[in-house]
Amino acid sequence: MSNFKDATNAIHAGVAQTQEQENSEAIFMTSSFAYASAEEAAGKFSGDDDGNVYSRFTNPTVSLFEKRLASLEKGEAAIATSSGMAALMTLAYSLLSAGDRVVCSRNIFGSTVKFFNTYTVKFGVEVVYVDATDYAAWEEAITDKTSLCYFETPSNPLYEVVDVAKVSQLAHDKGALLCVDTVLATPALQNPLTQGADIVMQSATKFIDGQGRCLGGALIASQEIVDVFTAFMRSAGPCMSPFNAWVLLNGLETLSLRMTAHSANAIKLAQYLEAHEKVKKVNYGGLPSHKYHELAKQQQKDFGGLLSFELEGGRDSAWRFINSTKLMSITGNLGDTKTLVTHPATTTHGRLTDEEKQKAGIAEGLVRVSVGLEDIDDIIADVEQALGQLD
Ligand SMILES: Cc1ncc(COP(=O)(O)O)c(C=O)c1O
Repeated sequence: MSNFKDATNAIHAGVAQTQEQENSEAIFMTSSFAYASAEEAAGKFSGDDDGNVYSRFTNPTVSLFEKRLASLEKGEAAIATSSGMAALMTLAYSLLSAGDRVVCSRNIFGSTVKFFNTYTVKFGVEVVYVDATDYAAWEEAITDKTSLCYFETPSNPLYEVVDVAKVSQLAHDKGALLCVDTVLATPALQNPLTQGADIVMQSATKFIDGQGRCLGGALIASQEIVDVFTAFMRSAGPCMSPFNAWVLLNGLETLSLRMTAHSANAIKLAQYLEAHEKVKKVNYGGLPSHKYHELAKQQQKDFGGLLSFELEGGRDSAWRFINSTKLMSITGNLGDTKTLVTHPATTTHGRLTDEEKQKAGIAEGLVRVSVGLEDIDDIIADVEQALGQLD
């Protein structure tokens, strides 16, 4: 499919029809595959012959999702996982050994910090955190022992934008790999693999699904690196269900159109919030006033659907605002067609210590909005009436 453009690949990449010549992709809800003979089974199990063996290893629907996603991310290959966090686990257990160092952005999803600090360190891997936009700090922290650098861009929920090319250069100078979480941008808005990253991590649960129906994750990289992940998958099993792969394949078909529409709504809401007297600060890369606007413009095709803003009055104001909304769903998810509202300090980032929250800038007055695809006038009207409930 490499001769086609992204919009075509989003709909056709990876398609392999069965003998039935189905037009839409089939779901192979099967745990294993049957063979005509013991000889055929032995050949497939040993890997001497191509073919599916067991759905923990490969499954045609999951493979199709992987091929299509790899094509959109401009990577050689992808591996799908049961969730975004399962992708992180696959990355860590496949690539890290005792004595290694991970250098990670401080401004990162709460469960990522918990995973690194609780589980990765148990196996003798050191994890150090840096301010991800301080490139001198990266340079200092990346030592010869560093095997992995990791950050989100744009970050959730503060919309910090990190220069992929700069950090990849610093990582590669010391022989380390760079993995970038671009869950907020998705392959529709940014392709870190073309900007110097070695691996992209996706939570397909978010915008790739786009309707809040199922969990999924993926790692996209060179074939050589994905082969290492595949070996781990065969032994450890955090694989994606064929049904979820089928849902997510359909999500990929409309991803680019949805991201354009999410972005168009989000900039309007960000502008409204920026002009509102009760709002202290708006974090959205599409605003020219945003610290990382220029870099976001350079690295991304658009600014996406997630923003956050800070209210005076800390948690009381944030909770009162959230409880006053009528159109929005109060949830920890993001990336849905519905507009979603979250209080990061007590939900998505609630497991961070107070010190970690303070360092990461997760204030009690911070509200996150995943701007959906409803009419923007209705979204703004809801925000307006909810802000009206504050003193
Ligand atoms: C930026 C980011 N990365 C990773 C994840 C984890 O993904 P999942 O919930 O699919 O495990 C999330 C989930 O909210 C996220 O927001």
